[in-house]
Amino acid sequence: MAGSPDSVPWHDAWHAALYGSQGFYRRPEGPAGHFTTSAVGIPHATPILAQALINLADRHHLSTIVDFAAGGGALIAAIAAHDSSKHCVAVDITERPTSLPANIGWWRADGGAMLPSEWEGLHDCLVVAHEWLDVVPCPVAQRDQDGSWRLVLVNSAGAESLGGLVTGANLDWLTEWVSSAVERAEVGSARDQAWDGLCAGISNGLAVSIDYGHEYAERPVGGTLIGFHCGRAVTPARWQHRHHRACGCRLPRCGRSIAAT
Ligand SMILES: C[S@@+](CC[C@H](N)C(=O)[O-])C[C@H]1O[C@@H](n2cnc3c(N)ncnc32)[C@H](O)[C@@H]1O
Repeated sequence: MAGSPDSVPWHDAWHAALYGSQGFYRRPEGPAGHFTTSAVGIPHATPILAQALINLADRHHLSTIVDFAAGGGALIAAIAAHDSSKHCVAVDITERPTSLPANIGWWRADGGAMLPSEWEGLHDCLVVAHEWLDVVPCPVAQRDQDGSWRLVLVNSAGAESLGGLVTGANLDWLTEWVSSAVERAEVGSARDQAWDGLCAGISNGLAVSIDYGHEYAERPVGGTLIGFHCGRAVTPARWQHRHHRACGCRLPRCGRSIAAT
């Protein structure tokens, strides 16, 4: 199937939709303006998670806690409030939130697999990445009529087509991690590399990822790429609504996140 001239691999479209100059995660309200996670937005959950992370850091005698992909910084603020002896740092792609307490460091990265310039030789630290890996864009692959894996392309109108054959490390990953029953999948080698990069910057410490996932046998046969818009699951798209009138919803803010597990 040939795509239209503006078709690009999902990996590129996804990155631009989330981290481009108009990207979803560059919006001033941040992710907490659109959805809750187990770190932020569920009543009483944030302090429980904060305390669990402090306990984990204490068990391993770690004096610094870094919240990687911190959103608006609510979790790291709760950690700093619970234990003032910890050196606390948050990392995200936006400007430092004005409400963040002054004793919390704020580093910026460019989104997806990118790391901040400070990410080298970190020591005595617990790094927690809560719902980061599911927003690290990766290639989307689909089997063609012959059963071969091909990259899925998407055009600016959201129409998909099949591109070139998947090769190299991406094909190796699909072969190892995806069963023959699956027709379409997000290729996790991009996340493996992102995680390896994060861990490589830690010379002494512990890294914890908290995210969604699947066991091999339960991987959805049609893939997991999904958009979130005004609190609802929607078809993922390359474009972003600029304000709510563009989509007709009644919420004061809107936009579309894209994630895959
Ligand atoms: C789903 S939100 C999770 C926010 C928060 N950790 C939580 O669980 O509520 C994903 C966050 O990851 C951030 N992010 C994505 N790639 C990043 C990167 N390379 N470095 C820092 N933050 C990143 C986004 O800007 C966004 O704030």
